Amino acid sequence: MSTIDPSKIFDHAVEVLKENDQGGYTVPTKGLYPFQWNWDSCFTAIGQSHYDEERAWTEIETLFAHQWPDGMVPHIVFHVYSDGYFPGPDVWGTNRPVATSGITQPAVAGFAVKRLYERAADRGMAARRAKALLPKIEAWHRWFYANRDPKGEGLVAILHPWEAGRDNSIDWDEAFERVPTEGIMPFTRRDLQHADPAHRPTKEQYERYLWLVQHFRSLGWDNAKLHDASPFQIVDPGFNAILIRSSADLADLADTLGEAEIAVANRERVSAGLAALESLWSVRHGQYLCRDRTTGKLVESASIGGILPVFAQIPDDRAREIARTIERQAAAAKFIVPSHDPADLRFESKRYWRGPVWLVINYMIVDGLQARGETAIAERITRSSLDLITQSGFAEYYDPMTGEPCGGRRFTWTAAMVLEFLRMTAS
Ligand code: GLC
Repeated sequence: MSTIDPSKIFDHAVEVLKENDQGGYTVPTKGLYPFQWNWDSCFTAIGQSHYDEERAWTEIETLFAHQWPDGMVPHIVFHVYSDGYFPGPDVWGTNRPVATSGITQPAVAGFAVKRLYERAADRGMAARRAKALLPKIEAWHRWFYANRDPKGEGLVAILHPWEAGRDNSIDWDEAFERVPTEGIMPFTRRDLQHADPAHRPTKEQYERYLWLVQHFRSLGWDNAKLHDASPFQIVDPGFNAILIRSSADLADLADTLGEAEIAVANRERVSAGLAALESLWSVRHGQYLCRDRTTGKLVESASIGGILPVFAQIPDDRAREIARTIERQAAAAKFIVPSHDPADLRFESKRYWRGPVWLVINYMIVDGLQARGETAIAERITRSSLDLITQSGFAEYYDPMTGEPCGGRRFTWTAAMVLEFLRMTAS
């Protein structure tokens, strides 16, 4: 049964984006997520560029206005007080002029800014605003390698599952067992008031999320200390691939705008990162895997994190293998791309990042596959993404087996990605 008339999808998507726009920044969805989220905003800006270029630049500028002095760009900016979300600013205790969280999120900004720049009708405005953002994004990239790759391996680690943006992925399960739960403050989750508990992370996971936050807070959020002090250090291929892609895009943009030093620094990170990524390849799974930096071992968990590297310039044969892996998964799921391999017994079709389809992830995969000439599978993912919208509306994520909408509704980044998918089908 269709809930949205296909010819009205564009207008609906714009309506969702505008309704979540708080003026200067956009919330992911009302209720469940009442603040500004880092990677959500970068995807949102790409969506906004379809109908309001000026507003799109502002979305990213607002995010970077809250960059930390050391270069980190926080994963949440708590612009206005709301008690509808846990953990709020008092739990993070980061002592910033405008409250923020103390961890980061996937580095989508470099990619997003290049995209805004390339398609800008107002070339003068685009050059001016991109040029002002360049050193800020460069500082963030520099921060990543200085603080999250202390031994210079070429790959950065995440220290909290929320940094990957894939909160409760199966990828973290084993390492997460090592995170204690003793001594955490009593807390009340707010997410369960807005979403079905069966679609969300578990209580034990929340306790560990919180333990890490309290631990980092006790270290004064000093990024020079956090990496080595964290019992959770995961090298996620997807997270790294996004950073590598953004570094490549930032380098191109820097060349265009006459910032040679930024271009050189980012190109070096790209070549070191791509070389190091190869150590995460799994022949058995036909995709990349995470590495647990505390044990040095690859994590036996075939998630979307290991498919995402197609978004970066990985070798052609790897991209081909990944396309075949997605085709295999497509035979087991009605909608693609599931966030975890359905053949894995741990797969859960409705639980957040343990199986459901997310449109932002599909978008990055499609972009990468198209660049490699894997057009048939790229088109199939695009079609699947738009079918989910007509069947189930602009949900946060979807059950790959049934297409059922899950999590929050009228979701900003889903709407933004729909505008991109529509553009792809039109060209
Ligand atoms: C959830 C997602 C994360 C996203 C946030 C806001 O925490 O896991 O990736 O940024 O919601 O949409």
